[in-house]
Amino acid sequence: MGVVLGIESSCDETAVAVVDSERRIRAQRIASQDEAHAPYGGVVPEIAARAHAEKLAPMIEQVIADSGIALPEFDAIAATAGPGLIGGVMVGLVSAKALAMASDVPLMAINHLEGHALSPRLADPEIEFPYLLLLVSGGHCQILRVEGVGQYRRLATTIDDALGEAFDKTAKILGLGYPGGPAVEKLAREGEAQAVPLPRPLFGSKEPHFSFAGLKSAVLRAHESGEHADADIAASFQQAAMDCVVDRLEQALDKTDPVETLVVAGGVAANQQIRASLEQLAEKHGMRFSAPPMALCTDNAAMIAWAGVERLALGQSDPLDFVARPRWPLDPDGEPARGAGYKA
Ligand code: KG4
Ligand code: ZN
Repeated sequence: MGVVLGIESSCDETAVAVVDSERRIRAQRIASQDEAHAPYGGVVPEIAARAHAEKLAPMIEQVIADSGIALPEFDAIAATAGPGLIGGVMVGLVSAKALAMASDVPLMAINHLEGHALSPRLADPEIEFPYLLLLVSGGHCQILRVEGVGQYRRLATTIDDALGEAFDKTAKILGLGYPGGPAVEKLAREGEAQAVPLPRPLFGSKEPHFSFAGLKSAVLRAHESGEHADADIAASFQQAAMDCVVDRLEQALDKTDPVETLVVAGGVAANQQIRASLEQLAEKHGMRFSAPPMALCTDNAAMIAWAGVERLALGQSDPLDFVARPRWPLDPDGEPARGAGYKA
């Protein structure tokens, strides 16, 4: 049995959790900064870093107290060490180093994407390696083949925007506020998905990469034309995005050896339409579909602690001088998407 304290601070969520090797979340707290960033329509790094600095230390103290476990009793202190906004990552990683040093407990410097990639196994003990993971949030848009702890093959990434970013930008165009995904989904329910002709970038292309910038521009033009109801634009955007996701996954499945399970994680996994589309796709391919509960899909510390538990079982830990990595691809050999700017 092992028990790990996890810290997450790479974006706009300050989170701390305690997870054990029996998959029990012994304690957890999370503070979202949505309100602080809302006026800007996106995450402002400086505001994020200051909020983490303010909230993290008391939160760690509370979570340790909630868990009833004394600091030296932990088997590891895990923190996100990248990729992400460097100010926030530093706050979390340095705190973890201090705790590890003071209590003589091993440090785990966790790749945030590894946290997402392994989180399905925290929720569902039946998920065995290998599995196919669609990771879609405001910052990430990847298809990964998860072969084992530390063994990830990135089959696809985005050439431009992440899927959640496309939802957020569509929401901004339609004046729906931030974060935009839930608002776009809600409005889409009142609209007609075929009403507005929108492009499906890269649809049918052999490489399974994503692109959403052209779709976003088309949404802007449709809105500016004044010819369409906002609900129709929202519904048509969501449909176009889903068509792209399913098509890209079809290509990825084509390129890789069969796996038993398809998993979705990241904030966009909250979307009911994406869940339904993926379930259908999995069924068509004779695969199981699994989506972790929402609290584990969006950024959280339980997934970081769990990645620590998984690495602990393999006898791994990291040195106290581990340097934070704002960019840290899960699969260093992952081919960059042609024409892409850098995306972790
Ligand atoms: O994982 P997350 O909380 O943070 C990171 O970006 O890492 O994901 C947030 C993203 C935002 O872009 C948000 O608009 C999107 O997930 N999102 C959704 C929905 N709920 C959240 N997108 C579509 N439909 C939703 N229901
Ligand atoms: Zn994330």
